[in-house]
Amino acid sequence: MRKSMKPIQTPFFRIREQSLQYDVSLLRQSLADNWGNYIMGYSVKTNSLPWLLNYLKNQGFYAEVVSRMEYDLALRLGFPGRHIIYNGPIKDKKTFEAVLLAGGYINLDSNYELEWMEELSRLYPNRHFRVGLRVNCDLFALCPEEIPATREGGRFGYCYENGILKAAIDRLLRLPNVWAAGLHMHSSTQSRSIKIFGALAKMAVTIAREYNLSLDYVDMGGGYFGGRDDMPDYRDYFQEICKELSLYFDPQKTVLIAEPGVSLISRATTFETSVIDVKDIRDRKYVVTDGSRTNLNPLVTRHVYPHHIEYISDASVRNRETSQWICGATCMEYDKLFEITDGAALIPGDKIIYDTAGGYTMCLNPLFINYFPAVYIEHADGTVFTARKPWSNEEYLQKSYVEDKV
Ligand SMILES: Cc1ncc(COP(=O)(O)O)c(C=O)c1O
Repeated sequence: MRKSMKPIQTPFFRIREQSLQYDVSLLRQSLADNWGNYIMGYSVKTNSLPWLLNYLKNQGFYAEVVSRMEYDLALRLGFPGRHIIYNGPIKDKKTFEAVLLAGGYINLDSNYELEWMEELSRLYPNRHFRVGLRVNCDLFALCPEEIPATREGGRFGYCYENGILKAAIDRLLRLPNVWAAGLHMHSSTQSRSIKIFGALAKMAVTIAREYNLSLDYVDMGGGYFGGRDDMPDYRDYFQEICKELSLYFDPQKTVLIAEPGVSLISRATTFETSVIDVKDIRDRKYVVTDGSRTNLNPLVTRHVYPHHIEYISDASVRNRETSQWICGATCMEYDKLFEITDGAALIPGDKIIYDTAGGYTMCLNPLFINYFPAVYIEHADGTVFTARKPWSNEEYLQKSYVEDKV
């Protein structure tokens, strides 16, 4: 399905391989320069497009999964079991056991997982298991000026401050064939600042020192900026992280794991839409397009949509409009994306291209009114590969049944 002509029918996502490769190389180099002993994971939930998973697998990435479905998808796409990082509060017991037996990475998060470890330790007395624990710490006590993901702090992992983390580690220590081998430090923040990552790394050191842990790995999770020239990138983050980690850990013994999502694929991905109609309603101009807010931000939490416009004809000779509202393709009133003030009048055929559209878009897209749009890969030589055809009722009707006489 490789061809060298530009896809025309909008809406579609485009992934530029060269830009993706740039960010993959930046991550690899930053980890190599600052620590040397590292594993690159990729957060499957951020964008689980099969083409992308396969691409990252071939670049040596491990699959960071948080459900049985994601685990199964990763295996089907050829990730070996030992290249799985299994995270999250809702784990599947069979998947848990399979990842453990395959020598993959599991970061415990919930109470029942400690029971599973006790059970599996008894069931496989001759195996030696390595597991990690997701740390929940009061990050905002350490960095009060930062913007938390939620006001009350994170809800994942075992709490350091109230002793639950220590109790979980002690429970694992009682098992003769289980090694509390890793700390998982992922913490979502809005500010994605270097300071936050420095504080998280420092916390990993504090915990390891306080509980006398000999660690096989520290997993710093995701949550970095990427693909934006006005923000920090992997080089800044890993310099700070490794500065803190090296105060206690030895790169020869302890692997540094990163599991980025959005930062890896933002630069490379655009969502491309066309103007279909321009409507005058009282004193407002509504520009109707064939893409939707549901393609870009189905949770409807965003108000900023980085974009650029490709005009079908010379825009400099067009009338200027004081206000134009760019609207989406659903029949929902809220499907309005952004306002252009004092801009060239848009006309049908103009293209509105959303930048940094790779993360939490394709995989969060609802099957609402329209189905999944196409995804095209643009190779460095200009050839285009169809990574996903647009979904139609062929896909929608699968596994749906109607009754004849109801
Ligand atoms: C455990 C874990 N790792 C990695 C990620 C990826 O984060 P991001 O897409 O912000 O890099 C997430 C996202 O929430 C996560 O929960």
